[in-house]
Amino acid sequence: MKTKLRLDQVTKSYGSVRALRPTSLDVPEGEFLTLLGPSGSGKSTLLQILAGLTACDQGDVWIDGRLSTNTAPHDRGIGLIFQNYALFPHLTVAQNIAFPLEMRRLPRAEIKRRVARMLEVVQLPQVGDRLPRELSGGQQQRVAFARCSVYEPSIILMDEPLGALDKRLRDDMQTEIRRLHKELGATILYVTHDQEEAMAMSDRICLMNDGGIAQLGTPSEIYFRPRSVFAAEFVGHANFVAPVSETPSSKCMVRPENIRILKEGEKADTVVNAILEDTIMLGAFSRHVARLGTGERLIAVNWSDENGVPLHLGETVRLGWDACNTVMLAMEAGQ
Ligand SMILES: Nc1ncnc2c1ncn2[C@@H]1O[C@H](COP(=O)(O)OP(=O)(O)O)[C@@H](O)[C@H]1O
Ligand SMILES: [Mg+2]
Repeated sequence: MKTKLRLDQVTKSYGSVRALRPTSLDVPEGEFLTLLGPSGSGKSTLLQILAGLTACDQGDVWIDGRLSTNTAPHDRGIGLIFQNYALFPHLTVAQNIAFPLEMRRLPRAEIKRRVARMLEVVQLPQVGDRLPRELSGGQQQRVAFARCSVYEPSIILMDEPLGALDKRLRDDMQTEIRRLHKELGATILYVTHDQEEAMAMSDRICLMNDGGIAQLGTPSEIYFRPRSVFAAEFVGHANFVAPVSETPSSKCMVRPENIRILKEGEKADTVVNAILEDTIMLGAFSRHVARLGTGERLIAVNWSDENGVPLHLGETVRLGWDACNTVMLAMEAGQ
């Protein structure tokens, strides 16, 4: 597959702050790649270097196979959306969305058609004649999205675009962005610190920590096969258990859904006794917290079973998991 974006050993410092360690990344055409990581891990810096809004100290940026390290932002063929991406306050919503098309001198009828369609896409068909200040924050964000997408850039960079929206609208917009990604065939780099959002939206996740890439992989690779303690803990809950064979430099991790409360006579590769401290019925799943003799707690998430043997807090339960569901991790965070 064609490489759309390439970072080659790119670095960036702000004074004594190392925002980006030497970082290389290839993004294939059409991919939805999410940069996920804690605040300050270098996500925005990486995105801004791609956009040309920030110059890197070393390394190179390649776009569509062309060396673009020093290319001006508007010559990169990239659409940008940020959390606080200002609309033109004196232009109506429709005029805002039309703006990139006017700049490109598209025929009037074509502009009208595309603006109307974008307003449908972001589910705001009635507000074309309003000014931005007459819209809620969430609506303004959707207009910003429409304005960025309307000229169908082949690359779209989004930095926490849904951060300011409430949960319901966030979910709707996630679906919209996914759908648009498929429809436009654009390559999308999406920044979030929300692991569920990253899981839900991405073809691949680039997990960042401390100015570098901690792990790059599909959502299920990152979730089921994390390579570091950092990756295991950042995405989902990690239960750390004693390794089967003593390997001093490794930790052993099991996800909550792979730890079962064993029924009488039920077997598993590893079985431990623990005291049940808490059980929460979440609907399809129940979440149990159990304390080992060592004082450590394990979390088990199992299908709820209406007809199962009732569990009582304080009782000793047998927890079990299988070797195929355990992951060995290096002790060091990051790389
Ligand atoms: N313009 C700037 N001036 C000084 N330090 C900056 C600037 N931009 C980012 N940084 C620092 O660089 C590091 C990475 O920041 P950033 O890329 O914004 O992280 P993220 O987007 O993952 O939260 C942080 O330590 C941040 O404080
Ligand atoms: Mg940021």
